[in-house]
Amino acid sequence: MKNFRQSYYNAFSRFYDRFVALHSVDAHGALRRFFSDKVPVKESDFVLDICTGTGSLLLYLREKIGPKGLVVGIDFSRGMLKVGQAKTKMYVNISLVESDVAYLPFKPNELDAVTCTHAFYELKGETQDRVLREIVRVLKPGKPFLMMEHDVPKSALIRVLFYIRLFSMGAKRALYILRHEIRTLERYFRIVEKISSPTGRSKILICWS
Ligand SMILES: C[S@@+](CC[C@H](N)C(=O)[O-])C[C@H]1O[C@@H](n2cnc3c(N)ncnc32)[C@H](O)[C@@H]1O
Repeated sequence: MKNFRQSYYNAFSRFYDRFVALHSVDAHGALRRFFSDKVPVKESDFVLDICTGTGSLLLYLREKIGPKGLVVGIDFSRGMLKVGQAKTKMYVNISLVESDVAYLPFKPNELDAVTCTHAFYELKGETQDRVLREIVRVLKPGKPFLMMEHDVPKSALIRVLFYIRLFSMGAKRALYILRHEIRTLERYFRIVEKISSPTGRSKILICWS
């Protein structure tokens, strides 16, 4: 099943960036800029973006942590990472790692922030719990995890696609997450805040360990 998922993302990687630009009506990255502005990091910090895909968010995060910091993007799709490599290889403060996010290859209390955009809903139910435990393990005490997800779309067609994607994590988990997303995060984090993107199409959850 994991190999099937990886193959699906590998195939998707060829047109993923164009699809995102069309779907989010965001060819200029305003949504990623808005999200990255909310990530409370400073010069020299060590940041991780899980399920980084083609690494688009890394380009914004790297500006915040400067040349002495490091932002690492992790993904299990070689196809996505290949596209990401072409976009980021000129920056010394970006690194891409091929790995399943169920096991984060970091020591405890090592990271200043962890991010995840438009990917958490695609993880299998048991992987979601595993990842949240891993994020808490690798974050320094009191440091944040920020996640961005699509809100339930207003247009009927896009709403159908949204629910298909959500239910790919398993029906029981999908229904639970829809009703109890904040409660789920509160099992792992001390404080969970929710804000909306300027377009109202995405939500950002800011979780403090
Ligand atoms: C919809 S894309 C989102 C990519 C990126 N975060 C963005 O905002 O454009 C979901 C990504 O999650 C990755 N992914 C899904 N399950 C994963 C897992 N268990 N371990 C690592 N990466 C995973 C996929 O390979 C894919 O690149």
